[in-house]
Amino acid sequence: MQTDSSFTFVLFGGTGDLSMRKILPALFEAHRAGGMLADSGKIVAVARHAADRGEYLQWVNEHVKPHVSKNGVDEAAWTSFLARIEFVKIDLGNPEDFVHLRDAIQDLPGIRVFYLATGPSLFVPICHALASVGLNENARIVLEKPLGYDLKSSNAINDAVGEIFAEEQIYRIDHYLGKEPVQNLLALRFGNALFEPLWRREWVESIQITIAEELGVEARGDFYDNTGALRDMVQNHLLQLLSIVAMEPPHSMDSDSVRDEKLRVLRALKPIDPNEIGKVAVRGQYHAGGIRGTAVPGYATEPGVKPDSTTETFVALKVEIENWRWAGVPFFLRTGKRLADRVAEIVVNFRAVPHSALGASALRAGANRLVIRLQPNETIRLYCLAKQPGEGMNLASVHLDLAFDKFFREGQMEAYQRLLLDVIRGRLALFVRRDEQEAAWRWVEPILNEWKTSTKPPKPYAAGTWGPAAASAMLAQHGTCWLEEEN
Ligand code: BG6
Repeated sequence: MQTDSSFTFVLFGGTGDLSMRKILPALFEAHRAGGMLADSGKIVAVARHAADRGEYLQWVNEHVKPHVSKNGVDEAAWTSFLARIEFVKIDLGNPEDFVHLRDAIQDLPGIRVFYLATGPSLFVPICHALASVGLNENARIVLEKPLGYDLKSSNAINDAVGEIFAEEQIYRIDHYLGKEPVQNLLALRFGNALFEPLWRREWVESIQITIAEELGVEARGDFYDNTGALRDMVQNHLLQLLSIVAMEPPHSMDSDSVRDEKLRVLRALKPIDPNEIGKVAVRGQYHAGGIRGTAVPGYATEPGVKPDSTTETFVALKVEIENWRWAGVPFFLRTGKRLADRVAEIVVNFRAVPHSALGASALRAGANRLVIRLQPNETIRLYCLAKQPGEGMNLASVHLDLAFDKFFREGQMEAYQRLLLDVIRGRLALFVRRDEQEAAWRWVEPILNEWKTSTKPPKPYAAGTWGPAAASAMLAQHGTCWLEEEN
């Protein structure tokens, strides 16, 4: 517990969806837990859509409270949380408003955090306005994804923000890095000697990383239709997970040691040959179907989506890493909306025994596999073969199971809570450095370009399935299949 770091947390986009669902609930949880936030710490919400503090607090009561504490709100904690909140009405078109912001916060103690929970087009104007009133000193700035639309636009934002804030003041959020199980992956890999010798091409046949969602595009059709799954999930969350799975052991857990190793992986990704994209990338778009028995509409009829949209809601990729540890090992990445299940997991398929003295059943699938499930139900399972009881030598697939909620009943922290505390404490390890982001954009760019101009539309899949058949065919070419296809 660390309560010494006083802070002023300025939240731009204070009445936005992200503030409502994630940021303010995460701050409340940190407040309610006690001992995590300095008593003097203030939250200063900035928005256009409220007249004054009273009206803003009313909005918080109505809209944020339903998203906090699943098991009921601790009313005393809620009241003291509201007392931390100040409000400044800002119209970005009016530079005078930033003078009011400065006046409101200049005597508050501690580090200043500016959280930009706004669209990326506002990042640069807000940074300039902050600098114009001297608020870029003694400050940290948090940028939400998506940061840019491609390499060029992301560089433009980074260049402009970089003129006002030094790199160590910039916290680029990828909320997957704040998830407890992702932290656990680091603990598993670098806290145990057991896996390291096997974590390489000699012993690993293939790796799958899946982030599947049952949800569709919800109320974000307009945003999503201009974004697509490659930008929304692959460029950031999936490539970050990949880099953590594949990175070399860092020298220490300090922010640059970890980020240097992740960067090496991103830079070692085999560049995509524009002529081969059809072989290593599948894009899909859901049409009408059913999720757990409930009919859902197709993507093209979602509000905000163009009826002839070719935006992908599903991506599957075969990725290779060009270094000694991983050469020749395919990494299969997959993400999609309206899939059959909500699951995020990493599957490490180890090679089968080279010769089976126990008969062909010892070569069967379902063994020599590590499955790290990030959500839901965080578990790590090591699948092996065991002899079935009774006469003869019949083998069956069994697993050693580590269910985290059984070992650790308390203390779980939501990703946003961890990340916000890290910003306040000045810990950068779980935030994306500019060079990592550039490497990721550079790698996805040939696919973005091809799909932008391709005359072939995304492959359709019914909502509630696992995506287009082509995603399975891609793995079949390597003699493997997605995990759920084995069961
Ligand atoms: C966000 C994407 O970054 O991650 C969303 O913009 C997606 O489209 C979400 O739904 C998934 O996050 P989680 O934590 O629910 O798996």
